[in-house]
Amino acid sequence: MKGGFYGLKVAQVSLILIGFVCMAVLMLAWTKTKLLTSLDPPESDVTYLPPEIPFSVKEGAGAKDVSQNTSRARLTEKDFGLPGISGDLESASTQSSATEEHTQNSTSSTATQVCNLGKGKWVIDDNQPLYSGLGCKQWLASMWACRMTQRTDFEYEKLRWWPKDCNMEEFTGSKFLRRMFNKTLAFVGDSLGRQQFQSMMCMITGGEERPDVLDVGNEYGLVKAPGSTRPDGWAYRFPSTNTTILYYWSASLCDLEPLNVSNRVTDVAMHMDRPPAFLRRFLHKFDVLVLNTGHHWNRGKLKANRWIMYVGGVPNTNRKIADIAGAKNFTVYSIVGWVNSQLPKYPGLKAFYRSISPRHFFNGDWNTGGTCDNTSPISAGKEVVQDESIDPLAAGAVKGTGVKLLDITALSQLRDEGHISRYSIKATPGVQDCLHWCLPGVPDTWNEILFAQI
Ligand SMILES: *[C@@H]1O[C@H](CO)[C@@H](O)[C@H](O)[C@H]1NC(C)=O
Ligand SMILES: *[C@@H]1O[C@H](CO)[C@@H](O)[C@H](O)[C@H]1NC(C)=O
Ligand SMILES: *[C@@H]1O[C@H](CO)[C@@H](O)[C@H](O)[C@H]1NC(C)=O
Ligand SMILES: *[C@@H]1O[C@H](CO)[C@@H](O)[C@H](O)[C@H]1NC(C)=O
Ligand SMILES: *[C@@H]1O[C@H](CO)[C@@H](O)[C@H](O)[C@H]1NC(C)=O
Ligand SMILES: *[C@@H]1O[C@H](CO)[C@@H](O)[C@H](O)[C@H]1NC(C)=O
Repeated sequence: MKGGFYGLKVAQVSLILIGFVCMAVLMLAWTKTKLLTSLDPPESDVTYLPPEIPFSVKEGAGAKDVSQNTSRARLTEKDFGLPGISGDLESASTQSSATEEHTQNSTSSTATQVCNLGKGKWVIDDNQPLYSGLGCKQWLASMWACRMTQRTDFEYEKLRWWPKDCNMEEFTGSKFLRRMFNKTLAFVGDSLGRQQFQSMMCMITGGEERPDVLDVGNEYGLVKAPGSTRPDGWAYRFPSTNTTILYYWSASLCDLEPLNVSNRVTDVAMHMDRPPAFLRRFLHKFDVLVLNTGHHWNRGKLKANRWIMYVGGVPNTNRKIADIAGAKNFTVYSIVGWVNSQLPKYPGLKAFYRSISPRHFFNGDWNTGGTCDNTSPISAGKEVVQDESIDPLAAGAVKGTGVKLLDITALSQLRDEGHISRYSIKATPGVQDCLHWCLPGVPDTWNEILFAQI
């Protein structure tokens, strides 16, 4: 659409009206904030642009930038974090000077309608997986590499997620690195976050050995403490593009403070209203952040970790958030709210909250003989048809904020055959892992969906 806004052929009055509102909002926003951006230069053009160019709402030739000249690059930002035109100015201004955009096929009534990558179906694709589970030894934990176990069925590796209303760009390591030129992607969360991190490393490298990739854990304090079995996370850098990928273990997504540092078995204050210290310290270094939590929110884990709920610096006395569900809800809203509050300071930051990864224990729970024995892919159905997330906590927490939902719950729910299942290396006989996923596998799709949004 070369004519830009005034040359529109789609003469939908409503769209044009919305366009004007949008432009007004965005011009206001633009004058308020200087904005960083991420660019995806055309395939053939590896020129990197200065960081002061706003990104457009959606990929497409129809994008007309209202605030700055963008003729030098094709902008492919996909509607990052604009919560809706009805959202307040504040959150719009923290995002981007998004551009007005009209596509022929736009069925939505507002220009800010986001294409829902979580809605679609699983299809068999012989180009999957993107790396071999026999490789990627540099990053893939052997306990998650189902190819290294007794498992003999691998149909689950061949599925690709096919969003219904959007064209999900194909992931390639080189495209990813180019887009993340001189940038840092951080995963912060529990072991499912760690799976997504390992998956990402394998996807970028295609599972090939990469001696050039640097371990930069020490830049982020991610070194093994004396007496611990592993560091709190890992950080690696691809020197060719200076792209850093890291993972930090924070199962609760809040600040943990030992109550007596000189005592190794001390209780730990779990400050549910404070972000993890790691995030406070390093957020300014991140360009893309993916948060998750969920499965550690049960009495058993809290007790085993000696985590005591704290709010406002003192033990929690609020009954409403004293139960696990209330505490989890409170914490997720707190961390998302905090990240959102930081976005004006770091306008280039794209922050995601990943919805819960579903468990599939049938006929019991993890500790009562629950199983996930099915080996036929998508026997539970292959489609997600609803628009709303089936993780209302995650959806509610990001609503109205600049933090974007990485909504993987419903699509993963269809993949009960993709878990480690009985092939768990560590498990005692009879105990199955129907929580973690085989890699390659379902978390690869989470990363494809992430890639489509950065
Ligand atoms: C944008 O680029 C066009 C063509 O290069 C130029 O004519 C125009 O003056 C530029 N506008 C601004 C605001 O820089
Ligand atoms: C628009 O939609 C029609 C029918 O749904 C489809 O054939 C066409 O390829 C689409 N065009 C674009 C640009 O997506
Ligand atoms: C890379 O980013 C750093 C800040 O993180 C900046 O100082 C440096 O100039 C950037 N390098 C390039 C080549 O853009
Ligand atoms: C590479 O990235 C790191 C971390 O973002 C940054 O501190 C450093 O300045 C970058 N190096 C160059 C040469 O731009
Ligand atoms: C902290 O732990 C140490 C070692 O167990 C103990 O000697 C000390 O009394 C504790 N301090 C407090 C304030 O409880
Ligand atoms: C979760 O917390 C938010 C913010 O405090 C609150 O508005 C919402 O009602 C809570 N939801 C539940 C289910 O407790």
